[in-house]
Amino acid sequence: MEFQNEIGLIQRKMAASVAGSSRRLEILNVLDIQSGQQVLDIGCGGGHLLEELAKAVGPKGKAIGLDTSEDQLKQAKGRCALYDNAFTLLGFANKINLESNSCDAVASAQTFEYIEDVDGSIEEVTRILKPSSIFVNISILWDYYKFYGADDNLNNLIQDTFKAHCFHQMLPTTLSGRLKKFGFKQLKHKPLPMFITTTDDNSPAKYAAEVMAQFALQQGVSKDKVNEWQNQLKLAEDTGHFAYTNLPILTYGYLS
Ligand SMILES: C[S@@+](CC[C@H](N)C(=O)[O-])C[C@H]1O[C@@H](n2cnc3c(N)ncnc32)[C@H](O)[C@@H]1O
Repeated sequence: MEFQNEIGLIQRKMAASVAGSSRRLEILNVLDIQSGQQVLDIGCGGGHLLEELAKAVGPKGKAIGLDTSEDQLKQAKGRCALYDNAFTLLGFANKINLESNSCDAVASAQTFEYIEDVDGSIEEVTRILKPSSIFVNISILWDYYKFYGADDNLNNLIQDTFKAHCFHQMLPTTLSGRLKKFGFKQLKHKPLPMFITTTDDNSPAKYAAEVMAQFALQQGVSKDKVNEWQNQLKLAEDTGHFAYTNLPILTYGYLS
């Protein structure tokens, strides 16, 4: 999936919602950043985490946001305009334009599942990280990213179509094995489950449904069917049988 235009905008609204702020807090808690450090965010999107990293490393440190999308990086630059120590980098995670042994920490949120070459990207993380430094990742178990309340057939059509939106549906199930292979130790996981029954403006369910609807249209599902799905979810919410579940997994480890 390309994070440009409408989908990029919805993604940034999701990042600005409570779902985004709560996972950034989880990442910051495990990173334990010290002033003066150099920290990289892979797949920085609109720069919400980048801004927090810039604050945490302080004026003598450096927070860098890497992304493949110029649209997202433009937004990230705007968001971090007040911070001289925040930088953006256009490029792919498996070929990062940074020196070897230059980063004190690498973070990434909901990005590695979109990267076809996950192992090459982990290897690149090991190249740029200093020894004993931390890599922290959040990826979603997409099999648990579900809506409830619409007609089963229609719901399954939209959800099955969405499976094509990323390369790795269940990345957290293989991530620690992959990290071990590249020399990471003290690996830990923390599930960050969501169960949501409303679609107000601070609700990740609202933006998740919008992204799924946009993607279904891009994949050729008819506008009538997509509108019908959205209407059924709205009716379910109004009548008290709507739910959205999501199971992001935070994984972290230290390079040996
Ligand atoms: C779902 S968004 C997450 C953005 C941000 N981390 C957040 O949590 O709000 C995924 C981001 O990863 C970027 N991305 C996808 N493939 C990438 C790759 N191979 N290298 C770097 N960034 C990538 C996309 O352009 C997009 O901005």
